[in-house]
Parts: sequence; structure tokens; C-alpha cells
Amino acid sequence: MITLALSKGRIFDDTLPLLKAAGIEVLEDPEKSRKLILTTNLPDVRVLVVRATDVPTYVQYGGADLGITGKDTLLEHGSEGLYQPLDLQIAKCRISVAVRADFDYASAVKQGSRLTVATKYVAIAREFFATKGVHVDLIKLYGSMELAPLTGLADAIVDLVSTGNTLKANHLVEVEHIMEISSRLVVNQAALKLKQESIRRIIDAFSAAVKLANP
Ligand code: PRP
Repeated sequence: MITLALSKGRIFDDTLPLLKAAGIEVLEDPEKSRKLILTTNLPDVRVLVVRATDVPTYVQYGGADLGITGKDTLLEHGSEGLYQPLDLQIAKCRISVAVRADFDYASAVKQGSRLTVATKYVAIAREFFATKGVHVDLIKLYGSMELAPLTGLADAIVDLVSTGNTLKANHLVEVEHIMEISSRLVVNQAALKLKQESIRRIIDAFSAAVKLANP
């Protein structure tokens, strides 16, 4: 049995064409079903529906053989014990610093003031501001980060930006671009040895599909 861990939403939808290229079709829609283990057209391949931040954990401990997760999640979680053979070039976005449109970020940074930054990405934010030599107080949040500058909880946020619509709708502006994000294939190292043939076949099919989609 080959077990693949996926999260619902954009990563799931963007992964379906890659699975198809590997001859795998998921037979149930996670948005319509409460089932967490989805069957595929292949009796020996199944898909687990897990929280995005849990994908590395499932793969690391062998609860899943393979998983697909964002670079953001891997950087926050750490990627110890995970083999990362492929950048799948899907679910592309960026991690940025954003502030209220009326907040003078450039002056605050130049004057060496202490910034309060709210984010789900504490490790990424800490590293980014440390490299810039900016003193920050980090506040960990789990979602709706955009509210933090609007309510006075923080001066800035570090969050994912895709279309920019969420920032715009909340009168926030992007002031720094930290890094580009896309989803990666991660593989359990023991599974790679024990189920080499089946896993290699999936990696190769994904790789060919990524090349085709990104000429
Ligand atoms: C992300 C992010 C922003 C939004 C940005 O949230 O936290 O809120 O997407 O997208 P946009 O630039 O296209 O508007 P997501 O929907 O992944 O949910 P989350 O709040 O659970 O992270």
C-alpha cells in the first residue's frame, strides 16, 4: 500500500493533475465527504486528508509514505528525516511583510524601532528580521493575521500573499517580499527504500508532469 498525505484546498486541487499523470485518480471529493482516507482507482494507493501543517509530521513518522506540502510549512516545521525530491511548482504564492496603509514601515525600520509582528510563521519571520538587524517582538497567531494591525495588536504581519486581495480588502499593503513559496513533494526515507519501485514511479511521473506544465 502507498499512502499519500494531502491537505484540502488549493494543494489538493493542484495535485489532482499530477496524480492523474501518475495514473492515479482520487475517487472521492474531500470537500463533499467527511472521510479522511480517500480511495483511488488503484487498490494499493490511498490518500489521507490532513491539516496542511501536519503533512510533514505524517510523512516523517511514516503515517504516510509521501506528502505534498508548502515550502512555508516545511520551513516552519523543519524537514528532518524527509526526502524532498521535487518542487512541484503548484500553489505558488509568496511570504511577505504587510502593514496598515498609514503605517510608515520604512521609517520604523530605519530608526531601529522595535516592531511588533504577528504571524503564523514565527521561524521564518524571526530569521528574516534577524538578517535585516531589525528588533521584533513576535506574536504567534493561527489565522486571520490581517486583523492584527487593524486592531493594534501588531505593527506588521508576515503572511502568505497570493492575489493580494485579502490585504487589499483589509487596507493593508505589502512592504517586503520575504520569499517565493510553492509546494514540494516529501517522501519518508524508509518508505523510499522499502517501496522503492512504486515510489520512484510516482516521483518520475510527477517530475515529467511538472516539466510539461512548466516548459
Ligand atoms: C492565505 C493567507 C491570506 C490569503 C492570501 O490564507 O493567510 O489570508 O491566503 O491570499 P490572497 O492574496 O489571494 O488574498 P488561506 O486562505 O491559505 O487560509 P489561512 O488563513 O488558514 O492560512
